[in-house]
Amino acid sequence: MKFTVAIDGPAAAGKGTISRAVAEEFGFAYLDSGLLYRATGVKALEDGRGVIDPANAEGLAANLLQTDLDRNDLRTALAGQAASKVAAMPEVRAALLEFQQNYARRDGGAVLDGRDIGTVICPEAEVKIYVTASNEIRAERRYKELVQAKPDLTVTQVLNDIRVRDDRDAARDVSPMRAADDALLLDTSKLSIGEAVLQAITAVRSCLK
Ligand code: DC
Repeated sequence: MKFTVAIDGPAAAGKGTISRAVAEEFGFAYLDSGLLYRATGVKALEDGRGVIDPANAEGLAANLLQTDLDRNDLRTALAGQAASKVAAMPEVRAALLEFQQNYARRDGGAVLDGRDIGTVICPEAEVKIYVTASNEIRAERRYKELVQAKPDLTVTQVLNDIRVRDDRDAARDVSPMRAADDALLLDTSKLSIGEAVLQAITAVRSCLK
């Protein structure tokens, strides 16, 4: 059975939590597509000693290994910005396209989260959900995730980081972050995790019938 759940939306809206819960509920595979860009971005920064060379980034994206995705430094703000930068490069997106498309249509069902899953990677996805939340709520949530590892962090810094990344992700020419016309909009600003997850699961269940 092929069944794709495409979950898109801006940074820190809750896509990952919702996607993992949906995958677990229905026994689907789960791909966090942001990790592909984060791993590419971090390696490109390392190779260029802080400056990303697009030609190098393309090669890195095309040759990512599982060990690159398992690195424990992919969740930092630095990795997020590097990811957003390489994600604006058409060659990098092209290098990552086929892997994601095959993943989306694998047997047994798949959940993918990202920015362009419902619009570019898998426009034929059976379920598309676009997860959002207000800038302030997203910054607050991300701050709580990051502050332990970085005690001098402030919510304002996180808010700025999210804004810069969202603006770049939405404004780029190639596969910009955007809700598919047929996506269900899920604003999690006033929802608990449980409520948001339940709404997503209910949407998937109704399409599975
Ligand atoms: O989902 P995330 O925050 O881990 O993503 C990191 C960056 O990667 C994000 O700012 C934009 C980019 N990205 C993308 O362009 N397309 C995707 N499908 C997933 C992520």
